[in-house]
Amino acid sequence: MCGIVGYIGDKQAQPVLLGSLGRLEYRGYDSCGIAVAGGSIKVYKDAVRVATLVQRAPQLGGTAGIGHTRWATCGEPSQLNAHPHCDCTGNIAVVHNGVINNFQSLRQQLISEGHTFVSDTDTEVIPHLIEKYYNGSLEKAVEAALNVVEGSYAVIVLAASEPKLVIARKDSPLVIGISDRESFVASDVPAILDYTNRVIYLEDGDIGVITKNNIRITSDGTEVDREEHKIFWNVEEARKGGYDHFMLKEIHEQPKVIRDTLVEYTQVAEPVVDLERMRDEGIESVLILACGTSYHAALVGKYIIEDLVGVPVRVEIASEFSYYGRTLARTLAIVITQSGETADALKAIRRLKGVRCRVVAITNVVGSSASRVADQTIYTRAGPEISVAATKSFTAQLMVLYWLAMGYSKADARRLAGMLLGLRQLPSKVQLMLDNGDTILQCARYLSRYENVFFIGRGINFPLALEGALKLKEISYIHAEGYAAGELKHGSFALLGENTPVIAIVAQDSTYEAMLTNIKEVKARKSPVIALADEGDETIRELADFVITVPRVDAIFSPVVNVVALQLLAYYTAKERGCPIDFPRNLAKSVTVE
Ligand code: G6P
Repeated sequence: MCGIVGYIGDKQAQPVLLGSLGRLEYRGYDSCGIAVAGGSIKVYKDAVRVATLVQRAPQLGGTAGIGHTRWATCGEPSQLNAHPHCDCTGNIAVVHNGVINNFQSLRQQLISEGHTFVSDTDTEVIPHLIEKYYNGSLEKAVEAALNVVEGSYAVIVLAASEPKLVIARKDSPLVIGISDRESFVASDVPAILDYTNRVIYLEDGDIGVITKNNIRITSDGTEVDREEHKIFWNVEEARKGGYDHFMLKEIHEQPKVIRDTLVEYTQVAEPVVDLERMRDEGIESVLILACGTSYHAALVGKYIIEDLVGVPVRVEIASEFSYYGRTLARTLAIVITQSGETADALKAIRRLKGVRCRVVAITNVVGSSASRVADQTIYTRAGPEISVAATKSFTAQLMVLYWLAMGYSKADARRLAGMLLGLRQLPSKVQLMLDNGDTILQCARYLSRYENVFFIGRGINFPLALEGALKLKEISYIHAEGYAAGELKHGSFALLGENTPVIAIVAQDSTYEAMLTNIKEVKARKSPVIALADEGDETIRELADFVITVPRVDAIFSPVVNVVALQLLAYYTAKERGCPIDFPRNLAKSVTVE
C-alpha cells in the first residue's frame, strides 16, 4: 500500500511527480504530497486526492523530487501525517511505503537526542535517523539509518545538498525507470509507463543512488548488477480510454484477456509448469493460497483441478496459513496473487519454502516479489489492473487454472476436445454478456435501494457467490454476504424478508434442482430474488423476480460468464449510489502490510 515516486532529470519534477502519483492512487488515496529540491527542499502535502493537490500546489521549482500517495497505517489521514516527511533542518525529505515496527523506541531515542517530531507516523523516524547519521554522504547515512530500522520499506530520499535520489527496499516493491538523461523510481510500473518501458527491479536489501545519467545499486556494501527488463504493457492499457471508470474498462477488457491467455498458453509446445513432476515426485495433493478476489479464483480452481486432474485440492486464505506439518512433503503449493506484492501471500510463500515445499506463483506482474520468491511463476495476461476492485485479473487467473488442469487432466479425449472448443468460444460468450447489460442495469437500480444483500450459489459457482458479494460491498458499500446456497438456511434465514434481496447463481449442472429448491425457500420468506441463469431457462422465470440471462457455456466455464454479470451488477449499483468506484473508501489495491 502507499505509492511512492521519484524523478531526477532535466524536466521540472513537479508535473512528472503529480502525473505519476495519479497513476499510483490505486495503492492508497487518503492523502498525498510531493517534495522538490531546487536549492532547498520544498514540500506540499495534504489529506486530499492527487487531482486536488494538482490544483492547489504552488510551483515548487526544481528538477529532482519525490512524491507519495498514502493508505494510512500509522496515524490518521491528515496533512501532518501525509508524506513526504522531513528531518529537523528540512533539508532531507523521505517517502516511504511499508511499516517500521520499532518506530516507537527509535522515536523516543531520537526525541531524547533533541529531535522534534510533527506527525504520528512511523515513517518520520527515517529522515531523523538520516539526519543523525549524515556525515557528508547521503547514501551512507541512509544505509546507517536503515540498519537500525526493523520492518518493511521502500524509500526514496531527497536531500537539498546532493543532486541525487537515494532509494532502498526491503519487503516492499520498488522499480527504477531508465530513460535518456532522466531517471524514475516508483512502487509500480504504471507510474512510469508514460516515460519509459525500461525498468530495473530492486531486490530486498538493495540501496540505489540515482542521478539523471547514472544508476548505482549496492547490496551489503558491494556494487551489484540488476537485470534490465522491458515492459510490454502500454500506456493506453493504464488509461481509462473513454470509459467512466477503470473498473468498467477492465470489465470490458475480459474477452481480450481470455484470448491473450489462450494464445499465450494453449499454443505452447511445452508446458510452462511441469506438473508431470507432480507424479514423478509422488505429489498427492495441491494446496492453493491467496487473498481477496484471488482467493475466490483459488476456490474455483479447487473444483476445476479436482474434477479434471483428480487430485485433492486444499484452499486456504494466505493470512491464515501457518501449517508446517509433514504432510506438505507431497504437496504442490500454488499461490495466486494478482499484484505479486500482497504481504500475506508473500509470507505464505516464504513459509512454504521454509518447509521445502515447491511453490508455483500465479501473478500478473512481471518481476513482482512473488515471482522472485516462488520456484516457478505463471503470468496471467491481464495487463495492468488499476481499479481497486479486481475484475479482469480474476478471469485471467481462472484461465490459467483451466489450462493447468486441462494439461494434466485424466478426463477422456472427447471431453477435453469439447472443453478446448468451449475455452475458445469464451471470449465471444463474455462479449455477449457485456453487450446485453440492460437487465443488469435495471437490477442495479433496484438493488441500490437496499442495505443488505445475500448471494448464493452451489458447486463451482459457490465461490462466485463470495466474489459477487465482495464486489458489491467493496464498491457500493452495501452489506453483502456470499453463501453456499444450502447453507443459508442454517442461521442466516433469520435475516431474510422483503428488505433483503438474494442474488442466486443458477448453473445448468448437477446443482440445478437443489438451487431451484433453495430459491423457493428464499421466496417463501418474502426476499426478492435476482437470478443469474442460462439463456433458455424458462423455469427460473416463474420463480425469480428478475432474471439476468447469461450465455450458455459448459458448466465448468460458467464462473467466467457469471462473474462478468456480477461485476457489472456491482459496478452499476455503485454508480447508482454515487460511489467513488475506482477508489473505494479505506481500501487499496496492493496490500503490502499484514
Ligand atoms: C486487495 C485488493 C483486492 C485483491 C486482494 C489480493 O485487498 O483490494 O482486490 O483481491 O488485495 O490481492 P492480490 O494482488 O494478492 O491478488
